[in-house]
Amino acid sequence: MGGLRRLEYRGYDSAGIAVIDDHGKLNTAKRAGKLAMLTAELEAHPINNGRTGIGHTRWATHGGPTDQNAHPHLGDNGRLALIHNGIIENFGPLRDELLAEGFAFTSETDSEVAALLLGREYQRVGDLSEAFRTVVARLEGAFTLLAVHQDQPGVVVGARRNSPLVIGLGDGENFLGSDVAAFVEYTHRALAIGQDQIVTITPDLVTITDFDGNAVECEEFEVAWDASASEKGGWSSFMAKEVSEQPDAIANTLRGRITDGHVVVPELTEFGDDVLAGIRRIVIIACGTAAYAGQTAKYAIEKWAGVPVDVELSHEFRYRDPVITDDTLVVSISQSGETMDTLMAVKYAREAGAKTISICNTQGATIPRESDAVIYTHAGPEVAVASTKAFVSQIAALYLFALHLARVRGSLTEAELAVQTAELQAIPDKVATTLLEADSIRQLAQWMTDTRAVLFLGRHVGFPIAMEGALKLKELAYIHAEGFAAGELKHGPIALIEPGQPVFVIVPSPRGSAHLHPKVVSNIQEIRARGARIIAIAEIGDAAVLPFADTVIHIPLAAPLFEPFLAVVPLQIFAMELSIAKGLDVDQPRNLAKSVTVE
Ligand code: F6R
Repeated sequence: MGGLRRLEYRGYDSAGIAVIDDHGKLNTAKRAGKLAMLTAELEAHPINNGRTGIGHTRWATHGGPTDQNAHPHLGDNGRLALIHNGIIENFGPLRDELLAEGFAFTSETDSEVAALLLGREYQRVGDLSEAFRTVVARLEGAFTLLAVHQDQPGVVVGARRNSPLVIGLGDGENFLGSDVAAFVEYTHRALAIGQDQIVTITPDLVTITDFDGNAVECEEFEVAWDASASEKGGWSSFMAKEVSEQPDAIANTLRGRITDGHVVVPELTEFGDDVLAGIRRIVIIACGTAAYAGQTAKYAIEKWAGVPVDVELSHEFRYRDPVITDDTLVVSISQSGETMDTLMAVKYAREAGAKTISICNTQGATIPRESDAVIYTHAGPEVAVASTKAFVSQIAALYLFALHLARVRGSLTEAELAVQTAELQAIPDKVATTLLEADSIRQLAQWMTDTRAVLFLGRHVGFPIAMEGALKLKELAYIHAEGFAAGELKHGPIALIEPGQPVFVIVPSPRGSAHLHPKVVSNIQEIRARGARIIAIAEIGDAAVLPFADTVIHIPLAAPLFEPFLAVVPLQIFAMELSIAKGLDVDQPRNLAKSVTVE
């Protein structure tokens, strides 16, 4: 249950466990709703202790979040239990086949076909690992499957294709989990198993084979996170904790990658500075918040390294016919390293001949292993579903990438590189200063609980931040929100402005962006004339904005390309505080999951 609690952020529509008890009997318990519902069920109806078990928290794909659709699903007349992450795309014909043979289904899930197929196969061969090999050959789609059978106590078998699965190596005990958080309380030794592999664990043995049964070796790694990093540690929510950890998350991401005032990213040197020097185009692929990190970094990469950058949503990139040449570099960004849309896009890019680099926050995750190189963000575990510290760390990692690239390509002078590097190093302290605005932002949010729609405007690097602010508000406070490029407003969206409409405006620095600042101030006047209520995020000392704003949130001075690190913080806090003020679950907003491992 502790492991499930640590993984609950990955999905929280329902939860269930299956345990083979000390008398060799399989017991299951499952409940719709958050893990707390399962805990209450187990308190009301305890099941016997055992030493072999599997557990699951679900993010519903096929079949709603009901008790029946919760995992585990049973096979072999209730003697086998199975849990599944992913989607079995050919479950329709498999279900028809089983129905024709007289099998009865108790759920609407695609997963139950795997449980029944595995049970049928177990009856034939009498061994779970062997039964798995036959079953996985029949499945299409993405899956991590784990199963136990009461005739094989002390054995858990797992299989994976495109969904995550990590092994934890203990002393007289072994673990399987979707990520290391599941078992980091017990061991820091881990193995990441590859695609299309089957793993069988007992308390003392771990055996890994491919789907044909050939033995395979896996590389062991040490988990750097400690268990307390994924605990709330006195904070009211994981989100509050993670927002406050942002200065450290950025500092940790920079650590070891700046030497004598210059950026040298060892992972990139290993990848090949000559390759980087020959790159003609960069395509950044990511989803959601990670894609906004990419859009923010586009400005810096193009300015510093002089390489054209396209930023694309992974799922859109993957399913068109993008032009990829061998001098294209595809940079993927993923906190979890497991987002299926991004994983598929990385594989596609690689097969098409691109070089691939991933920016990732999770050791042992799939996307870095499918890429030619990885720059890890060292934000520590991000548990709240809405991304915050991972976002700023992704921008930090991308800026390191941009400065490394500029150095190897000679596009910035030594002096220019040193100036930008110093700006980057100053960011953690400036983010810490920005966090001091939290109380006034909380008050603002408390006044705005009845708000039905909020608009966000930004220009240049403020534009992706406006979109990120809107996304945070949608997902946390369930309020309709849109981010626009401030210059675009007059081309249509200004029709949305009516008296009282709250609009956040990210105002560029009057010093650093002297050409843009007056334009944004004009945009503010245009919407204010139509009754908008302006909440400006502006540099300390920006007097020009004061007469036109209803509220001003101040951020410290920074060079223009570095403003996103600071401007995003008030927007994160606002969304979080509005969610709390509305009595919502800020860590686990409805309908979402932290790691989206389906396409
Ligand atoms: C929003 C959020 C999501 C993720 C997106 C990609 O707060 O967290 O939009 O950014 O699902 O996830 P990763 O980075 O794990 O690939």
